[in-house]
Amino acid sequence: MGEYLSQRKKISVSSIRQSKEKSKKISMVTCYDATFAHLVNQANIDVVLVGDSLANVVLGHTSTVKATMSDMLHHGAAVSRSIQTAHICVDMPFMSYRISPSETLKNAMRLVQAGGAESVKVEGAVTSMIATLTAADVPVMGHLGLTPQSIHSLGGYRVQGRAAAAARKIVEDAKRIEDAGAYALVLEMVPAELAQEITQSLEIPTIGIGAGAYCDGQVLVLYDLLGLNPDFNPKFLKKFANLGHQVVDALNQFQHEVQHGSFPSACHSFAQKREIKDNQAVACE
Ligand code: KIV
Repeated sequence: MGEYLSQRKKISVSSIRQSKEKSKKISMVTCYDATFAHLVNQANIDVVLVGDSLANVVLGHTSTVKATMSDMLHHGAAVSRSIQTAHICVDMPFMSYRISPSETLKNAMRLVQAGGAESVKVEGAVTSMIATLTAADVPVMGHLGLTPQSIHSLGGYRVQGRAAAAARKIVEDAKRIEDAGAYALVLEMVPAELAQEITQSLEIPTIGIGAGAYCDGQVLVLYDLLGLNPDFNPKFLKKFANLGHQVVDALNQFQHEVQHGSFPSACHSFAQKREIKDNQAVACE
């Protein structure tokens, strides 16, 4: 396994772009900490997104607008310490790329220098900021459809682009984001047919979440795809494991064994005499 991992080449934005030309689908997952990043690093995932969804998933807020620059820096740095192969994209948090080009550049600089970012993601058709960042050699991933940082103006987590005019606007914005220099585009919660039209009309890859099968890649929130929250069951989510139940079972087992004195047993205890090697004194089954 170690040898195989060391042979894998770091994934760059140009290899992500080339994936589309080669019709190779892109896999992207969110990640927020070093332990999970270590596991993600052992899988064949192409892109790790340090998403501002950490506000909900890790910090317990009800909206991504609560994520701050310091949150993104803290978690981005933690993830980047364990990722060797996948490309690392870090979300620019709410308002950090809206105030002025110089603030946008400064915030992106911090995410790259201290937050482990190899590219940044921004939400909406913020084309002048995308152009500013790409001119400064910061690769940018766009994000259209349901853009959670706009939740207060959207009014709810709903499918976007069902009506003809709204669909047209998303198609046009996607093209403008490509023209501004983005290297990829996330499409969130849009009809599959609309995502297909956008995917076919762009040269850059689209990465979908709740956007059907025609995108050039797919992204899911790591904790969702691992089934860590048994109560979260949106239509677009497939759970590839049910770890939430396993975690609760393990905790109950721990509590039971502590209560009944069966943990720790001799095999998890240290011997008084150091010449008896601790791990040889009593072997665990
Ligand atoms: O922050 C996030 O998790 C995201 C994904 C849903 C694409 O932006």
